[in-house]
Amino acid sequence: MTRRSSIPREVGLDHTKDVLREGYQYIPNRKKAFQSDFFESRILGENTVFMSGVEGAELFYNTEYFKREGAAPKRVQKTLLGEHGVQGLDGPAHRHRKEMLMSLMSEERLQVLDQTIETYLEQYIEKWEKEKSIKLYDEAVEMIFQIACDWAGIPLEQHEIRNLAPKTADLFETPATIGLKQFKGRNSRIQLEDWAKDLIVKTREKDLHPLEETALHVIAWHRDLEGKLEDLDAVADDLLNIIRPMVAISIYVTFTAHAVVHHPKEVEKLRMDGDPDSYKRFIQEVRRFYPFFPFNVARVKQDFVYRGHAFKENDQVIFDFHGTNNDPKIWDNPDLFKPDRFKEWDGSPFNFVPQGGGDYLGGHRCAGEWITIRMMQIFLHYFVEKIDFEVPPQDMSYSLVHPPTMPNSKIVMKNVRWKA
Ligand code: HEM
Repeated sequence: MTRRSSIPREVGLDHTKDVLREGYQYIPNRKKAFQSDFFESRILGENTVFMSGVEGAELFYNTEYFKREGAAPKRVQKTLLGEHGVQGLDGPAHRHRKEMLMSLMSEERLQVLDQTIETYLEQYIEKWEKEKSIKLYDEAVEMIFQIACDWAGIPLEQHEIRNLAPKTADLFETPATIGLKQFKGRNSRIQLEDWAKDLIVKTREKDLHPLEETALHVIAWHRDLEGKLEDLDAVADDLLNIIRPMVAISIYVTFTAHAVVHHPKEVEKLRMDGDPDSYKRFIQEVRRFYPFFPFNVARVKQDFVYRGHAFKENDQVIFDFHGTNNDPKIWDNPDLFKPDRFKEWDGSPFNFVPQGGGDYLGGHRCAGEWITIRMMQIFLHYFVEKIDFEVPPQDMSYSLVHPPTMPNSKIVMKNVRWKA
């Protein structure tokens, strides 16, 4: 029988090893070779359609065609996501849970977060002034863990900060690892889920009294579509769905410092410009230029044909975040760090996808994009306007293979001090 598909197919039995070897570049490399935003290959023993670019995003985020149930690999669920969070839901159950999470992102709550970030940054800078040098990523993980818990209404003991902050980082550092590192990530998730469940039970039993508008209160008291208090496993995963990704912003903070060090002319423009939007454009360019999550997985909801390709129920599909953010058909000279390109950006939810695309409530686009942008902007403001620091010789290069990547040195800063 002839295959009627206009989607090119990679020849060979299985290409999982190529995905592992080429990392962020696996999809962009084939996109270039096939001169196509769509191609088919076989990974983890399954035929898989890979998609990239605007058309790929429009298709991937069409919830008529794709579902998330059963999509995320076990190693990702057991570390990064959990098995009961919003990411694996579809239809009305997804929308109901997502509405609850999005209700935490009101302007009032974001303003409280801005204040909280500044308070902790000021404390940490006081501390950094007394130290010869600091490793920015490690400091950011510890600081943002406290910011996230403070903002979410979670009380913390000193020993919990030292213990739980690095475990939270394990969740997003280990999903693509194997062996001991994967084991460590899974262990950290078990411990963090126990911690989250304990917080929720104590809130429900009125042993803890978080403020009504905080994430702990809202998530602990959330009711499902039948009006029953949500299942404990589900709400524990969703509480971690707030804390974990906030801590993951540490990677973007580290890349923001990388950009500040490598693009002094752009930093000078920030200082001279006086345009508050120039900070946002710089941050948007950090999110476009630097790699974070390379791609995401979904499954076909029901049979359909697209571009002459027969998508069958439960087929695996993968959408390319990194290649879309660096697609020369969308971005002029994508390899250049040019924040001003965002002066002309049309705001499309399908051409700039560092945290997913499409719709927030009807789809799976990241719930924390506004938090991410605002937090990065505040850190950038401090790096540019509030502190001076030196950057001793170090290896600031970053791998394009192992996600999530970051500068090898984690950005060492010396002689951090308040500006005169
Ligand atoms: C380091 C910054 C972040 C990055 C790179 C990031 C990236 C992503 C990506 C790629 C997705 C999946 C989109 C898809 O399914 O197609 C996602 C989903 C999600 N993110 Fe983020 N995120 C970040 C920060 C945050 C923050 C700060 C929060 C909350 C405070 C958050 C909460 C969520 C939630 C709840 C989902 C699941 C949404 C759903 O399935 O409907 N993220 N994020």
